[in-house]
Amino acid sequence: MTTEGTVVATLDVPAPESEILRVEDLRTSFFLPIGELEAVRGVSFLLQRGRSLGIVGESGSGKTVLARSIMRLNVGANVKTTGRALFEGRDLLSLDSREMRKLWGSKIAMIFQDPMTSLNPMVKIGRQVTEHLRKHRGVGRQAAKQTALELLNEVRIPEAESRIGRFPHELSGGMRQRVSIASALACEPSLLFADEPTTALDVTVQHQILNLLSREQDQRNMTLVMVTHDLGVVAGRTDDTLVMYAGKVVEKASTIEIFGRTSHPYTEALMRSIPRTTQASHTPLVAITGRPPVATHLPKGCAFSLRCPYAQLKCHEEDPPLTPIGNSGHEAACWFPVGTDANQEAFERNLSDRLPQTLVVADSLIAGKIGQTVGDSPEEGSA
Ligand SMILES: Nc1ncnc2c1ncn2[C@@H]1O[C@H](COP(=O)(O)OP(=O)(O)O)[C@@H](O)[C@H]1O
Ligand code: SF4
Ligand SMILES: [Mg+2]
Repeated sequence: MTTEGTVVATLDVPAPESEILRVEDLRTSFFLPIGELEAVRGVSFLLQRGRSLGIVGESGSGKTVLARSIMRLNVGANVKTTGRALFEGRDLLSLDSREMRKLWGSKIAMIFQDPMTSLNPMVKIGRQVTEHLRKHRGVGRQAAKQTALELLNEVRIPEAESRIGRFPHELSGGMRQRVSIASALACEPSLLFADEPTTALDVTVQHQILNLLSREQDQRNMTLVMVTHDLGVVAGRTDDTLVMYAGKVVEKASTIEIFGRTSHPYTEALMRSIPRTTQASHTPLVAITGRPPVATHLPKGCAFSLRCPYAQLKCHEEDPPLTPIGNSGHEAACWFPVGTDANQEAFERNLSDRLPQTLVVADSLIAGKIGQTVGDSPEEGSA
């Protein structure tokens, strides 16, 4: 892997022991023939050691580019990343590729949506699982085989002994993802990124893999970043949640607060897309109206304004900054946050103006399709 994408170097700073990752004003752009595509537009967050963070947003919101920027995996002469990503106090964005390679797989690991992205189709799974171990720790062949077996058992690959000599294509998608998890865990990384690790799998397998990741995170006191388009995946699984829209963080809080005190209209809309226990099983879900904006042509003001049921003139003029909601560290970027009188007034105004996206939400409320969003927890099985 190379890291030739343009990166602006910055100084490292000493970090408190509890702090594992501090991302500051991270921006990544792709320079395309049609213009600059700002995929990540000034993301900042802090991650404490041993905690889990969910990064949630629709497809195209910049989640993968953000994770790959932190990992220095966005390559190419047309990519530019600025800001800082301090891992244990060292700015990953200013490390040279040799230093970065040392961290990949040993201290920081990543699991991808498609396990075939990280698995080599030509290498038997036992060998793949311990590749980093042999490379980074100089572990011998026999010891590596023993560790591979232990890891494959740990990620619950049945009859691991007989599967150790198989190639990835001989396993099911779920089994392959277990192998890539085992491979990521081999060097006991302190930080694990999982980018849509279950999106390509069927629902029951999804549950098993998510449970496996949570268990491993607990047992190893590992820090986990779970990237997903499905807010239901983070419910009850991650400590904190960061909601992204059009390359920006629009809401961040503990996951309990995100569900219990939803403040951003986009988060509320994502919430409506999760099945709820209070709904009859045949109830259609309320999808978010419209599409995310094209990243090369973002609207003026709030990027969600063309889809938001509460949008007012100000929203089309000025981009709202992240602002504290209460004093628990909860923040949302909205001029009319959900749950405020200003939000209620904006809704009523748009309703009388017959704004299409407001009518959709109002119709759903009347039809009882939407439960009480605030305080209503998602269905157990939705994760
Ligand atoms: N290598 C690339 N070159 C150009 N544009 C890209 C590249 N990778 C991602 N993008 C664009 O960046 C934006 C964010 O993409 P991505 O982070 O993959 O979204 P998500 O993971 O949230 O679905 C999208 O508009 C996508 O088309
Ligand atoms: S109310 Fe305005 S600022 Fe808030 S999300 Fe909607 S459009 Fe954006
Ligand atoms: Mg993605």
